[in-house]
Formats: sequence, structure tokens, C-alpha cells
Amino acid sequence: MLLFVVILGLCCCSKESNQSPLGRPQLSGPSEASVKQIVTFVCELETYPKNEPILLQLIQKGNQSRVLGESTSLSGGTGSFVKEIKRKHEGYLECRASLQNNTSIEATVSDLHYLKVFVPVKGVSIVIKSGASEFFERTTLKLVCSVSEGTDVSYKWLMNGQLIASSRFHFASSEQLWINSTTSKDSGSYMCIATNHFSRTTYSSNSSQVIITVKDLVSDPEISFKVLKETSDNYTALVTCNSTRGTPPVTFSLYSNEQLVASMTREANLEAEFKVPLVLGQHMGFLQCRANNTDRITQSLQMALAVVRVGGRVTIHYETETGEAYSVVGLRLYCKVETGTHPEYQWFLNDTLLDGRGNFYYVVHQSPEQSMLRLSVDRRSAGTYHCKVSDIANTTAISSRKHYLDKEVLNRLPDLLVGFVFGCFTLVILLVSACCCAGVLFRNKQYGDTSVTGLEMVRMAAAYEDELDLSGYSEDADEMKTPREDEFDQVRSDESSRIKSVTSAGSQTLLSAPSPQASEASLEEWPGIVKQKKT
Ligand SMILES: *[C@@H]1O[C@H](CO)[C@@H](O)[C@H](O)[C@H]1NC(C)=O
Ligand SMILES: *[C@@H]1O[C@H](CO)[C@@H](O)[C@H](O)[C@H]1NC(C)=O
Ligand SMILES: *[C@@H]1O[C@H](CO)[C@@H](O)[C@H](O)[C@H]1NC(C)=O
Ligand SMILES: *[C@@H]1O[C@H](CO)[C@@H](O)[C@H](O)[C@H]1NC(C)=O
Ligand SMILES: *[C@@H]1O[C@H](CO)[C@@H](O)[C@H](O)[C@H]1NC(C)=O
Ligand SMILES: *[C@@H]1O[C@H](CO)[C@@H](O)[C@H](O)[C@H]1NC(C)=O
Repeated sequence: MLLFVVILGLCCCSKESNQSPLGRPQLSGPSEASVKQIVTFVCELETYPKNEPILLQLIQKGNQSRVLGESTSLSGGTGSFVKEIKRKHEGYLECRASLQNNTSIEATVSDLHYLKVFVPVKGVSIVIKSGASEFFERTTLKLVCSVSEGTDVSYKWLMNGQLIASSRFHFASSEQLWINSTTSKDSGSYMCIATNHFSRTTYSSNSSQVIITVKDLVSDPEISFKVLKETSDNYTALVTCNSTRGTPPVTFSLYSNEQLVASMTREANLEAEFKVPLVLGQHMGFLQCRANNTDRITQSLQMALAVVRVGGRVTIHYETETGEAYSVVGLRLYCKVETGTHPEYQWFLNDTLLDGRGNFYYVVHQSPEQSMLRLSVDRRSAGTYHCKVSDIANTTAISSRKHYLDKEVLNRLPDLLVGFVFGCFTLVILLVSACCCAGVLFRNKQYGDTSVTGLEMVRMAAAYEDELDLSGYSEDADEMKTPREDEFDQVRSDESSRIKSVTSAGSQTLLSAPSPQASEASLEEWPGIVKQKKT
């Protein structure tokens, strides 16, 4: 303890005895300067021995301190240092004061003064850290904005001239731009702008444009086939593989029962066609398309390569479109065949082929399952209709039954119905009254004569029934005897809607065709119908 006090005392004493005739210098000057700027640092010394030359030095501290300037004076303690600032001047500076010819007196130093050197931004370029400028979607794009020089730089990223905002997948931070999970929407021209400021001056530098291309992975292809007739009894299937999305080149491969059949690379489009031998009526196995434009392979569903020949019955059923006063103004006839994967349909009016679009009809081959003929019901469309179905082999063309249609035939139906309903109603009343009469007669034999009016009513009912039997809506006698079930259904459903409409007279909604929109659309499409409506 005593020793410690003694040492402390000695220290204090030595410091006191060593007190220098030189005071501590004060260094002043700018704390920030731009490169190439000329600045002045001033070093001031208040206490110094007179008539001794004093050396003032401006020193940059560091691992190896460097003298940036010296000033000697006999008559005072002030030194000025004029410097052109360089990048390397950044750091701590101090002023050192000493007596020039007297090394026995120790030099004194000022407090440290930090100088920050501003460098305007220059030489901006983009570095693609993630590698290639062309790549597939879902990869991460990493760009770095690099500057050859510049201090306190801030960065902005532009794509196609638009500022990139940070989002879930776009992450712009200082000199980096990350785009996670890229899509083809990220393709474009990228640029970064680097800026910095010094005393109200903004320095800015643009990078050159970097083109980034994000390619789409190919989507799952769709597979379909058409039958081609090569010679009279030699057929091939033309199989089409096509994808909706993907950046070419895309390689399409056709597999049959998991075996590669053929493959081709498409440079411009996303569709490939392959020819495969085909035997009609025979199952040729399962086909599949595969597509790839990277190491990822996409594939279609498995498709059975089989052409079933047309066969069975060909039937026609129809839907009506009603206009004003419940009259039938339009008709949709549908033709169907029982079997066959590749049927070809033909419609005939009075044995004349109806094809495409005419002034009162319109043929739509909706699907392999059925073909539709739309008609406007007027004078021109009256006649006998039938359809024929054949397949590519064209050896068996199956014909439907013939149906006579005209405006009167179609519109007679409701009257019949009214008759039918009224007839039934009358019959019921008659039966009830007959029962009553019989009862009365049984009880009271003196009233034995049948009422004249009652007889007349029975006769009337019989007449209605006859009219019903006429049901002349088809002229084809054969058709009449054996009404097919689907037709019968159609007529019945039509009837029931009409019954409703008759019983609740005046209610327009019940009278409309099965699908009101369909009939409206048809009115636009069919000038004939509109005319019909007007008349
Ligand atoms: C100090 O030393 C320099 C040379 O180191 C000499 O030229 C100068 O005359 C000396 N001045 C005095 C006052 O001794
Ligand atoms: C992007 O992905 C990287 C690495 O997977 C992750 O560190 C970063 O947070 C992601 N950025 C965004 C904006 O999702
Ligand atoms: C830098 O980019 C900005 C924004 O696109 C533009 O206004 C400016 O003119 C560009 N400067 C140079 C030198 O190309
Ligand atoms: C069928 O046609 C293809 C190409 O036209 C031909 O290569 C093949 O030998 C033909 N087959 C028969 C049985 O004619
Ligand atoms: C079709 O034949 C019927 C008679 O069977 C005839 O009334 C009708 O005008 C004919 N239609 C056409 C378009 O030739
Ligand atoms: C079927 O062959 C006949 C002649 O043999 C031809 O007139 C008709 O257009 C062919 N039909 C189809 C659908 O190929």
C-alpha cells in the first residue's frame, strides 16, 4: 500500500518536472472534403518558447503515420497546410509541434481530427451473381450493382425503366436485387442507378442495361388424334401433342405403352404431330405425349388409340324454340349414333345435303357424340329431314328415319293437347254423371230414358279421342306406329309444359322455351326467326 502511494507520488512528480515549454497545438479544418478539393488545415500553438524555431507537422495516423505537411516558424505558433484532397487522406489527422533545434524538449500533439473523404460515384455496372442471364422460371435471380468508386452510395433498380418495388418475391436492398421464384414476367432490361451527395450536389451514375430472359417451363401436353386414310384400306392416326405454355425449343416425345415411338424438337411452336399406324376397330394400345425444355419432363394423360366403327341406330331428337303466341319458331335437331368414336354426320332435307350455314339452317358438329342442325321454322325449312352417319372407312353409312316437319305440324301439337286435356276432363265428368245417372235410374225406374245431352257429350269425347289418334305430326306412317322412346319423351315433356301454360293462362314465364337465353341468342343469330316473330 505504501509502495503504491510512493509510486503514484513519483509519477506525479516526474510529470510535473517534465512540463514542456510547448503547449498542445489545436488542429482545425474541414471534417469532410471531396476528392480534388483544395482545403486548408490550421494548427495553432498558444504556448511556445520565444526565439526558437518551431516545427508544426500535419500527420495522418495509421499503421504507418505519414507527414502530410510541415511548417516552420520563428515568430509564431501558427501553421497552415493547404492540401488537395485525395481518397487516401481519409482518416485521423493530428498536428505535432516540436522545437526544431532542440530535441531535448518533447514534442506535443493535438487532438485527433477525423477527415472524411467524399468520392463521387463512378463506373456503375450490374453483375449477375446467380450466373446466366437466361434461365428457367422459379429460379432465384441475384443482381449486384457494382461501382468502381464512390462513397455513401445509394442504389435504385429499374426494370424496363420502371422502379422495382420490394415485394414478396422482389427484394431490393442496398446494392443487391434478389428475385425469388422468377416467372417470365421478370424478363426484361435491368438497370441500376447509383447516387451520392456532397454539399447539395448529387452525383449519379447509371449502369448499362442488362437483359434478363426468364423462360417458361413447358406445361403438361394435351394429346389427341385424327384418323387419316392412306390408301383404300390403310389408315394412320395423326397424333397431336401440344402444350399451352413453355419457351421453345421444346422436345415432344410420343410413347406407346411406355415405349418411345418418336420424338421431335420444335423451335417455334408448342405442337408436334406424329403418324402412327392404325387398324380400325382394334385397340392399338395407350399413347402418351411427353414434353420437355429443361430436365423437367411433363406428360399428358394416357390415351387409348382405338377407333370404334360406327354402328347401331342413328336417332334424331329435337328441342323447340317458341316465339310469340307460343308458336314454334326455331328448332334444334340432334343426330346421334349408338357406337363409333369417329363418326361423320350429314344432314339432309328432302334428300338434299345441308352443309355449314344456309339462310334458314346452321349445322354444328358439336362433338363425336352428336351433331346439331338449327332451323328457323318457316316456309323454306318445311320438308323431310334425316341424318346419315358414316366413319372414315365410309363403307357403312347409317341413316336415321325420315321426319317431316313444317310450321303447321309443329304448331298443331298444342291444339291437340288442349283437346286431349279437355277431352279427359269431359270424360271424367261424363263418367261421374253417368254413375250418378245410373244410380238415379237404378233407384227410380220411371226416369228410364237417357238424356239427349248426355249422349251428345259421349259422342264429343269419342271425337276428341279420334283426333288424338290422328296425331299427324309425323307423315312417316312407320314412324307413327313405333314412336321411339326419345322422341316420345321429347313430345311428352313439351306437352306437359304446354298443359301448364294452358291451365294457368296468361302466365308468360311458363311458356318460355327450356332455356330462355338460348332462344334469345338464337333470335339474334337467326334473322328468319325475327321476321317470323314480327309477322
Ligand atoms: C537550427 O538548425 C538548423 C539546421 O538544422 C540551422 O540551419 C539553423 O541555423 C539553426 N538555428 C538556430 C537558431 O540555431
Ligand atoms: C429469397 O430467398 C432467399 C433464400 O432462399 C431468402 O433468404 C430470402 O429471404 C428470400 N427473399 C424473399 C424476399 O422472399
Ligand atoms: C440514367 O437513368 C435515368 C433514369 O432512367 C435517366 O433519366 C438518365 O437520363 C440516365 N442518365 C444517363 C447518363 O444515362
Ligand atoms: C400403309 O401406309 C403406310 C404409309 O403410307 C405404309 O408405310 C404401310 O406399308 C402401308 N401398309 C399397308 C398394309 O398397306
Ligand atoms: C320438301 O318437300 C316437301 C314435300 O314433300 C315440299 O313441300 C317442300 O317445299 C320441300 N322443301 C324444299 C326445301 O325443297
Ligand atoms: C363416302 O363415300 C362417298 C362415295 O363413295 C362420298 O360421296 C362421301 O362423301 C363419303 N363420305 C364421307 C363422310 O367421307
